[in-house]
Amino acid sequence: MPLQTTDTRTPAPLRAPRGLAGVVVADTELGDVRGEEGFYHYRQYSAVELARTRTFEEVWHLVLHGDLPDGEQLADFTARTAALRHLPEAVGQALPALARAGAGSGPLAGLRTALSLVGAAAGTRPLYDSDPASRRADALAVCAMVPTLLTALHRLGEGLTPVAPREDLSHAANYLYMLTGEEPDPAHARAVEQYLIAAVDHGFNASTFTGRVIASTGADLVACLCGAIGALSGPLHGGAPSRALQALDAIGTPERTDDWIRAQLAGGERLMGFGHAVYRTEDPRSRLLKEVADGFGGPLVDFARHVEERAEALLAELKPGRELHINVEFYAGVVMELCGLPRAMFTPTFCVARTVGWSANILEQAQDAKIIRPSARYVGPPAPQPVPR
Ligand code: ACO
Repeated sequence: MPLQTTDTRTPAPLRAPRGLAGVVVADTELGDVRGEEGFYHYRQYSAVELARTRTFEEVWHLVLHGDLPDGEQLADFTARTAALRHLPEAVGQALPALARAGAGSGPLAGLRTALSLVGAAAGTRPLYDSDPASRRADALAVCAMVPTLLTALHRLGEGLTPVAPREDLSHAANYLYMLTGEEPDPAHARAVEQYLIAAVDHGFNASTFTGRVIASTGADLVACLCGAIGALSGPLHGGAPSRALQALDAIGTPERTDDWIRAQLAGGERLMGFGHAVYRTEDPRSRLLKEVADGFGGPLVDFARHVEERAEALLAELKPGRELHINVEFYAGVVMELCGLPRAMFTPTFCVARTVGWSANILEQAQDAKIIRPSARYVGPPAPQPVPR
């Protein structure tokens, strides 16, 4: 009897929903988002609980290695990653020119170029040609360096000298230190750390998917990360927190809230910091960050609370049935503002956290040799037509 072979014929094309919403394209052990429940997790743990109870380094270890570290593992991981914060000399030397050339584009755009230099300087090899241990070493090095690159690019753009990393500070505290050049307030460092933990990973969002698509080609880790950063930078994804604060500025006072929101929605504009591709409830990250903001209190938090309440009510009235609630970006902006981060660094700060999640996703994707290659339906003029001469 002949052996049964796998059918290699191309299946009939399936029409995926717009935006690939709800389409499962991979298996992952990294975590998941349950949109209807308002819940998300890293590995088997609630991400919000991790943000409440653990440090960034512990969660980084969990996401990258698969388990929460014990005391000895944590000490080793913390020392190892802290030592990787320093930039290669050639990269440090190139940053002033990068910051000058990209003055109007901000640190995230500069990061893409700087990371390409980091990859070139380190000779980062294609995922296809490297083993899991060296891929993981590359991922640790890049994630450790991203805060150094972003803060240096920001400071250079402001005409300031970059601040060298300190190995005695946590990832979050050192980030604030490199940004300001001052010893960070512990409450600010912890608030930023909680935000960073909450933003590490979040299912197959646009930037993670982008990174995994590039990883599926066998390209190097840095190429995957640069693509992911590009996707994150868009206002419909990670580019919203400073815009949410701009909205608070534009509203100005509580009594102007309803008129402003109604005018925005009547003009077809979206309210930044509201709505989500997956959540049909309040975004659990915003619940966490609201708690963090409440811990600081003050007029900005009171005003944000008022705008949140009115925006949710008006979205329910004017966009009925759509379940538009607050997302992570709204209170992320408020918390970062309270911690003294400049607005130009809001999305870059998101990127500091997400680089860890992207890296874990890219490493996971690299274990699957199948290239991601969907199809498109051609809707142009019928082909072939004679080429004009
Ligand atoms: N303000 C007004 N209307 C909105 C908003 C909003 N913030 N969000 C969605 N809608 C409308 C859409 O226009 C759509 O209406 P339509 O059917 O008449 O076109 C309807 O609600 C349904 O949208 P969804 O399918 O729920 O959302 P989608 O998946 O298309 O978009 C997105 C999700 C991009 C986050 C959207 O809600 C948005 O643009 N929000 C504002 C920007 C923002 O806050 N971005 C950060 C997202 S969080 C993150 O990526 C980390």
